[in-house]
Amino acid sequence: MTDRDSHHDDASPDEDRRQSGTSWRESSLRSDGGTEAAGADEAVLDPWGSSTVEDYRKLFDQFGIEEFDDVLPKVPNPHYLMRRGVIFGHRDYDPVADAMHNDDPFASLSGFMPTGDPHIGHKMVFDEIIWHQQQGADAYALIADLEAHAARELSWSEIDEHARSYVLSLLALGFDPEEGELYRQSDNRQLQDLAFELGAETNFSELQAIYDFDGETDVSHMQSVVTQMADILYPQLEEPKPTVIPVGPDQDPHMRLARDLAARMRYFGVTEAFASFEADAAERTLLRRAYDAREEYAEDPAMPRCVEAADWLRAHEPAPADARESVAAKLDNAGKEPIRPRTRILDRNATEAAFEALIEAVDGEKRVYDEHVDAFDLDRAEADELAREVELENGGYGFLPPSSIYHRFMTGLTGGKMSSSIPASHISLLDDPEDGYDKVKSATTGGRTTAEEQREKGGKADECPVYELYAYLLSGDDDDFAEEVYEECVGGERLCGGCKEQAAELMETFLEEHQEKRAEWEEKLDELDIDLDSARKRA
Ligand code: TRP
Ligand code: SF4
Repeated sequence: MTDRDSHHDDASPDEDRRQSGTSWRESSLRSDGGTEAAGADEAVLDPWGSSTVEDYRKLFDQFGIEEFDDVLPKVPNPHYLMRRGVIFGHRDYDPVADAMHNDDPFASLSGFMPTGDPHIGHKMVFDEIIWHQQQGADAYALIADLEAHAARELSWSEIDEHARSYVLSLLALGFDPEEGELYRQSDNRQLQDLAFELGAETNFSELQAIYDFDGETDVSHMQSVVTQMADILYPQLEEPKPTVIPVGPDQDPHMRLARDLAARMRYFGVTEAFASFEADAAERTLLRRAYDAREEYAEDPAMPRCVEAADWLRAHEPAPADARESVAAKLDNAGKEPIRPRTRILDRNATEAAFEALIEAVDGEKRVYDEHVDAFDLDRAEADELAREVELENGGYGFLPPSSIYHRFMTGLTGGKMSSSIPASHISLLDDPEDGYDKVKSATTGGRTTAEEQREKGGKADECPVYELYAYLLSGDDDDFAEEVYEECVGGERLCGGCKEQAAELMETFLEEHQEKRAEWEEKLDELDIDLDSARKRA
């Protein structure tokens, strides 16, 4: 089919916005925590790799992730992570923002591999799900236990323990389990059925290209990929709706595949068309131009003929040459057939009964072909709606392509990467509050060598992991406080000792309160509809 390309996103080039400036809103919270400095020449996106994303800007160019700032004005009451540029990128967030705005149904889902204790990096994702839930989303959080077992080789008992802990932190941070849904991949039959269906649309070469899988990759790992695809589309099982998946940019390969699969599962595709033959996107553009220029060449402009358009295109249209040649050949072939704009509904993946039902449902003048119907009285939007309706009535899913938002990774407290294998580099949500205090006190800073120099030149908040703690977590919703810390730091009024003391105390309090709430939920956990113990023979 020719319509695939219309589902790919256009790359939106990003101008370099991360220069060091003095204005808080312009620059401070937009620091990417020093990862920029590393200067690798490839942006690496590997869901199971250990690499960090070296340069976020490359993501815009290379993979077509769009800047979150572009969509921010459309978001009602944006979350502080959005306001501060911590959430820096998105794919197709507009439909989600629109749904929020119009009070239409929408959903948010993310998943967690239970490989260790939840830490402050996971907290960002928990908060993102919870915020969307508070804005009216159907919210979902899942434990990716199949993935942890397949891709990380964790035993089921380790998985059980960690799964419980993720759930407790999510609840303690405010997830409403009555309104939302929590599940384990291994325990969700509907999910696995969907994964199986999606697996039928996915082949090995594709996984090879996206994930670098090869002949040595085990089958369970591949199953965990289709399971994640099913996770991402799961909120739409009851009815199609805009769905946002908050994740780190390392998960973007999954998003691209999921968006592609959502489109591939659709029964019908809708395009514009001008004559009976099939044309791809580039050819359609040329046909549109030829149609618009009909006055110039047609003997009867009310009925421009295909051959006439072919001659005109050959004589007048410079580029792209190969599309011009191929479309002119098709036009020649169609001979005297008149060119008439129409909306084409293609049978991509429909059952015979669904295609019949579609033909029936098209109002007005129509022409029926083997694999498409041309509708002369429907516009694109009407045809889209009709196609989805017929699909849903005839056993299809009617998926909308899922959207995503991407947050920056936090810098490790010891500088470099925040890593769960280096305890001093990160703060676990289970850390003893005093240890949390100590870790912050020992963190590296963006401070100058001497207090005198700091007073004179100001600190480098943009390169300071402690400042990041303020911006990403400790200031919470209070922009004024974050701004104050920033301005005082770069203005030289704030010295690192006191600044770290304040941050350390805030961290200690945060951990104390969080752990109290975890303990409260611990008592209520049995009442929830999630089974946290695997009933498995194998360890
Ligand atoms: N692969 C994700 C990770 O490594 C976990 C995950 C599983 C997930 N299913 C998901 C994330 C669905 C977002 C949406 O952490
Ligand atoms: Fe970082 Fe605070 Fe020192 Fe500024 S004063 S460099 S924010 S620790």
